[in-house]
Amino acid sequence: MQRRTFVKRSSLTVIGMGMFGSLLSNNKKAVAGLSVNGKRIESRIFELAKFGKDSNGHGYRVAYTKGDIEGRAWFMELMKKAGLDPTIDAAGNIIGKRKGKNPSLKPIGFGSHIDMVPDGGNYDGTLGSISALEIIEILNENNVVTEHQLEVIIFGNEEGGTIGSKAMVGELTSDGLQQKSQSGLTMAEGIKAIGGNPDNIQSCIRKKGDFQAWVELHIEQGGILEKEKIQIGVVEGIVGIVHWEVTVEGFANHAGATQMNMRQDALLAASKFIIAVNEVVNSVKGTQVGTVGKIAVLPGAYNVIPGKVVLGLEIRDLNADKIEMLFKEMEKLTANIAKDSKTTISFVRQPNESKPALTNKALQQTINTSVKALGFSTKFMQSGAGHDSQHIASIAPAAMIFIPSVGGISHSPNEFSTATDMANGANVLLQTILKLDKE
Ligand code: GLV
Ligand code: MN
Ligand code: MN
Repeated sequence: MQRRTFVKRSSLTVIGMGMFGSLLSNNKKAVAGLSVNGKRIESRIFELAKFGKDSNGHGYRVAYTKGDIEGRAWFMELMKKAGLDPTIDAAGNIIGKRKGKNPSLKPIGFGSHIDMVPDGGNYDGTLGSISALEIIEILNENNVVTEHQLEVIIFGNEEGGTIGSKAMVGELTSDGLQQKSQSGLTMAEGIKAIGGNPDNIQSCIRKKGDFQAWVELHIEQGGILEKEKIQIGVVEGIVGIVHWEVTVEGFANHAGATQMNMRQDALLAASKFIIAVNEVVNSVKGTQVGTVGKIAVLPGAYNVIPGKVVLGLEIRDLNADKIEMLFKEMEKLTANIAKDSKTTISFVRQPNESKPALTNKALQQTINTSVKALGFSTKFMQSGAGHDSQHIASIAPAAMIFIPSVGGISHSPNEFSTATDMANGANVLLQTILKLDKE
């Protein structure tokens, strides 16, 4: 089965090759139109994966660390070679521009991020970043000059709170800049480490209407597309994310000499709290999620009853009110847990939260038309992961393209997407940009 779709354009003819596009993408003679080089995308995914390893050899390209800085330098070198002349804005976002024929038209933006969570995977963010570069190279190699300027953006510190994109839409506050990042540096220190200028953070702000459109290609990070055997997801909305630091204060005491009924065990109270989080989130219908993903136990010894526990609580949903409602329910249960365990439990809401966002409907349709023209199957879906696109959606028509994640695994070294799926997604992105350029 081979499906071909011819889309006539004023300056070029584009031929979509369906599932076979990636297999033939190296062979320009066989493909009369534009198609990405799937092999180049995959080999660059592997090359970038070499930057950022912890002492056990696990992926550690955490924002603002050595691996992130080295990976960014490698990426900027490729951008230079592709003629993008990259610059770094005040928030540490890498920006590369390719001139269009018509300077009065607004730029079309696309890209993603290349930082990762600790022990992360090689596809989250990197697919959209490497594919954005691939599109520029394909246009260069085929001497195609678009009407609009094209702008490739690699956001800084996506994983630590979508910091670069937040700054770009004017939502990175001074509190947010002082928040500690996973690297141990504050956001402000980290931004400096990657070449930004936190003292002049406003200079990176882009206004509403500055972009014609923004499109991000990403792995799904869940298992829906794979399970339903669908090649491309068109994202309708991206969940909001709120974090709280939860501190449980008990009393550290001798683990041998203190009777069970005399204890103020902070970890026991924290355990009950974690179970309560799960119960509250499961108590209502919907796709909301709640996670305690971080825990520090003090003083942390076999023979000392834990006196203090600090937890990281996260709640996500597409509806901001639901997040607040769930948190209130958790707070109510917490009062009883604290009373029963003779502890105190307090919450500090963290800066750098992300609001839920809907993507642009017209843009969803443009993507869908590209998907159909390429002969792929498609599904409109939500994103349970946060993305820079949810902030850019407040200043520009924004949308996202998903490809399947094998086994629905992400934020894990086992994260994987096939070369064919990656090339499919990149071809959808390419065709979408070419369509937008004619609008
Ligand atoms: C980013 O990947 C997030 O959803 O936390
Ligand atoms: Mn990502
Ligand atoms: Mn991620």
